Amino acid sequence: QKYAQSGQGGPLRDRIAHEGRHHLLSVDQFTSRESVEELFRIADMMQPIARRQKISRVLEGAVLGNLFFEASTRTRVSFGAAFCRLGGSVCDTTGFTFSSMAKGESIYDTSRVMSGYVDAMVIRHPEMGSVAEFARATNIPVVNGGDGPGEHPSQALLDLYTILTEFSRLGKLLDGSHIALAGDLKYGRTVHSLMKLLALYRGLKFTLISPKGLEMPESILEQVGRNGHVIEQTYSLEEGLRGADVIYATRVQKERFAEEELGGYSAEFQVNKAIVDKCCGPDVIVMHPLPRDSREGANDLSTDLNHDPRLAIFRQTDNGIPVRMAIFAVLLGVETLVPHSLRDV
Ligand code: CP
Repeated sequence: QKYAQSGQGGPLRDRIAHEGRHHLLSVDQFTSRESVEELFRIADMMQPIARRQKISRVLEGAVLGNLFFEASTRTRVSFGAAFCRLGGSVCDTTGFTFSSMAKGESIYDTSRVMSGYVDAMVIRHPEMGSVAEFARATNIPVVNGGDGPGEHPSQALLDLYTILTEFSRLGKLLDGSHIALAGDLKYGRTVHSLMKLLALYRGLKFTLISPKGLEMPESILEQVGRNGHVIEQTYSLEEGLRGADVIYATRVQKERFAEEELGGYSAEFQVNKAIVDKCCGPDVIVMHPLPRDSREGANDLSTDLNHDPRLAIFRQTDNGIPVRMAIFAVLLGVETLVPHSLRDV
């Protein structure tokens, strides 16, 4: 069985509300496995719409404001596509240069103004906590599309959805499994959100593999440790990957610190076919939030796994659409209308 039974009542958006409002700012808003899996049932329902096998217009007339003050391909486009797939339309602004923040406008004023124009906002901003500041200034739903080194909740949700889907295909259970998180665990916001979300399951073993100086923040270790999971930290990729059921590699976020801080980081630190073959079995899944850095000297994830079925990165990106459709449907309170709205292509 892919998901646990849902025993809770009332709309999901009220159960995951942030300070009484329908925002998605942190995975901490999901306090049980049941609530997160309820979202995934809705994502499953969205799959035929995401693949354009069915059409739904439940968000017809609604407008999404996509405000991205940091570089993005996946998050910005897939949130936009998810909103359009449900019949809505999207207004984008990208970078500070093309927003009036370049003229000194505050987060508060920007958020208040946008609230009069659109029905929901997705925001990416380089400062941790900034998206929550946008959310405090508005009554419309705000989704955190990445706040500096803070969180990236929609990415973690699609990552967990991918893990459960892959495990279901492989006949494996997430409870009791071994998750290896590798790379920049200090500034990589996707791993912060994912580790906290995974902690809702039982008896996990985490191996955390990072260069010296880029370890997982203590606050997250404490939060996850309280749930009784085994957490091992190592600077050796080979040691950390041994026997893993999931390898989750991340890019070093060079834009967030001076390179001299990197110290022991070396080319040895790359997840590639040789090390996956050496350390893991045929049913490991290899994930990465992307982008992976394809420039000379980059180390996160080799392209030599591109045709290896264990590489799940493009199934992961595909899952971004139905999961983000489910997030909108829940936050805007239309998820129960979707089954009645379906029509053929
Ligand atoms: N995974 C992710 O956040 O990708 P983008 O930076 O392209 O949005």
